[in-house]
Amino acid sequence: MPADRPSDLRTRTGALIGATRRRAARLTGGPGRRAQTGMPVAPAPDRLALDSWLSAFWGTELDELDTRCAASETVPWDAFGALADDVWAALLTQDYDAYPHIRAVLPDVPDAALQATWNGASGAALAAQSVIFYARLRDLYARHGARPLADSRVLDFGCGWGRLTRFFARDVAVGNLCGCDPVSAILDVCRACRVPAELALSEFVPRRLPFPGSFDLIYAFSVFTHLSEAAHLACLRALHDALTPSGLLVVTVRPPEYLRLSELLGPALRSLGPDPASRLSEARYLFAPHDAQPLGAEAVDGEVTYGETVITAAYIHRRWTEWFEPAGFELLLGDPYQVVVALRRR
Ligand SMILES: C[S@@+](CC[C@H](N)C(=O)[O-])C[C@H]1O[C@@H](n2cnc3c(N)ncnc32)[C@H](O)[C@@H]1O
Repeated sequence: MPADRPSDLRTRTGALIGATRRRAARLTGGPGRRAQTGMPVAPAPDRLALDSWLSAFWGTELDELDTRCAASETVPWDAFGALADDVWAALLTQDYDAYPHIRAVLPDVPDAALQATWNGASGAALAAQSVIFYARLRDLYARHGARPLADSRVLDFGCGWGRLTRFFARDVAVGNLCGCDPVSAILDVCRACRVPAELALSEFVPRRLPFPGSFDLIYAFSVFTHLSEAAHLACLRALHDALTPSGLLVVTVRPPEYLRLSELLGPALRSLGPDPASRLSEARYLFAPHDAQPLGAEAVDGEVTYGETVITAAYIHRRWTEWFEPAGFELLLGDPYQVVVALRRR
């Protein structure tokens, strides 16, 4: 199924974590033991229960918010707007037992295995990546968007289980937040978790989006990192047509270094010859299909649509400028295999 990281990357990451843990155990004399420095070393928890962080530093605000959630007939989304981004992200993990009324109004999260399948990580570690993109996207929209987020209609394209969609529930008016994905089973997960957005099934190779009207902001995190060239062109056209004239599209792409990380893209890297760096300064679209395609994925001219994708900056400047004017690339050092591309509609 779709994943931020291919299985080869997960294997490497798993091996790296294993090696790091073994090294840490050697240094500290084993998990939970005292290091040679005399400092107590806690075992790494599988679940980072956030209660003590939340109550120690933000207890007063969160007690008030919990009371307000208990008393409100509708979810008081705007009341969450005053929280710092990371506290908001922590609340969205549902990884705490205090504040039962806050927990009850916020969407549920799918189990850790599903999160990892879709995103390569889960829980607080995944939330830490999510909040980096959320904050960057809000910043980009403040710089390039035509109106305040509170007055904007926003779409999460390829929303998965609504991981990022839910972050915007406190910023965007109820009814103006939408999400779509071509995998109906993952939209069922969104609904079961009560993701507070209008949800719709899109096509793998869309002619148009499954919503009437237009959007001020559309974002697609880790979607263009997976599409075949034909599918990505169809998506770009459909996204262009669904944006308002001053609308902003924000997507992520892989950095060239990803070619070295993904075994699936190995043949594509080798096809570049002895000097890949100079080939990668050219307009290139490198795609390797996954063996297993998501249910319902269509082939375009015999080519499957989902896999691992590296798109060069030169390709974006040459091909995407038919529909969009690039407004800049953004590095996410906390999530370096996702490079953000901001695009103004032409
Ligand atoms: C790696 S997941 C990322 C999900 C979500 N954007 C997130 O960041 O949590 C990729 C998502 O793209 C969706 N997808 C696959 N093909 C697509 C297409 N042609 N158009 C839109 N979304 C697509 C998948 O179903 C999956 O939910």
